[in-house]
Amino acid sequence: MKALVLAGGSGTRLRPITHTSAKQLVPVANKPVLFYGLEAIAAAGIRDIGIVVGDTHAEIREAVGDGAAFGLRATYLRQDAPLGLAHAVLIARDYLGDDDFVMYLGDNFIVGGIADIVARFARERPAAQIMLTKVADPRQFGVAELDAEGRVIGLEEKPLEPKSDLALVGVYLFTPEVHEAVAGLTPSGRGELEITDAIGWLIASGRRVESTIISGYWKDTGNVEDMLEVNRLVLESVEPRVAGRVDAASQVIGRVVIEPGAVVERSRIVGPVIVGAGARIADSYVGPFTSVAAGCLIADSEIEYSIMMPRAAISGVARIGASLIGHDVEVTRAPGTPRSHRLVLGDHSKVQISS
Ligand code: TTP
Repeated sequence: MKALVLAGGSGTRLRPITHTSAKQLVPVANKPVLFYGLEAIAAAGIRDIGIVVGDTHAEIREAVGDGAAFGLRATYLRQDAPLGLAHAVLIARDYLGDDDFVMYLGDNFIVGGIADIVARFARERPAAQIMLTKVADPRQFGVAELDAEGRVIGLEEKPLEPKSDLALVGVYLFTPEVHEAVAGLTPSGRGELEITDAIGWLIASGRRVESTIISGYWKDTGNVEDMLEVNRLVLESVEPRVAGRVDAASQVIGRVVIEPGAVVERSRIVGPVIVGAGARIADSYVGPFTSVAAGCLIADSEIEYSIMMPRAAISGVARIGASLIGHDVEVTRAPGTPRSHRLVLGDHSKVQISS
């Protein structure tokens, strides 16, 4: 059994972060979201993974390397353009050979891992096995229709009138039969080869497609709100540890990790919070559910429920909340003009100002 990890795509919903970086590497509690998936794959006993990469291939390679750090053997598969999830299977045809495989979307986050469903698949070997979860608004997802025995009888991508509230989670298991399905696909209305069409083809040709309904937590971290939610969830269970330097004038309350080399001065940190190596926090408040990456600076500021990526700096700003702040970003007070905002924003930046 192999794994096919999808780490290409265009990431339009996470612009401008994705103009310069891969969305799968946005940190959750200071660790790239992709790494949680790689750990889940390794924990399920899989060793060989093909990683589908696009424009951000260099960055993904740099982060994952040969996979040995995860107990995996990684092979990189270049996808020229993000032409769909089934297109990723198509280009991985030679790599996958005649092995069964689990396809894992690199920006998905699943609590509880995949070992159980991988084991069930290995026992039963249906042509495809999908994971489903109940969602409040199925219209934004791929939606499955099941018969009384839980067998999948239909799939629809983002239906206007969903036939159930069961959305597809970004983990799929396949036998090599899927290659026949993928080979015959034509692009959908949005110009992609859809994996839901491939599974639909398997159903229509009488193959067995099984589903597991997961009750655990799942999120597609493709947008900022979900990213912040996953960050909140992971921070809720970090082990508190203060390895950096906290001065006597500071207060550190609750579940807080302060990595070696980080410095906290005259500040109040209310967990759950993680502060990365070499970060500096001075005369500031850092509130719950905030991840401050390595080398960040927070001076004379307040921030909560946010993710700061490496080396970002905020200075003289109160108060930042529900924000995703990219690498090397600087947020400071406008000099001399207390009521005006001075902005130098990259393409597709999003700024919400409270005044
Ligand atoms: P999506 O989030 O569905 O697509 P996207 O990355 O293009 O994002 P957006 O909708 O914001 O533009 O992709 C799910 C995962 O699969 C994600 O990790 C990217 C990856 N992917 C590929 O590797 N190749 C592809 O052709 C597509 C469509 C996605």
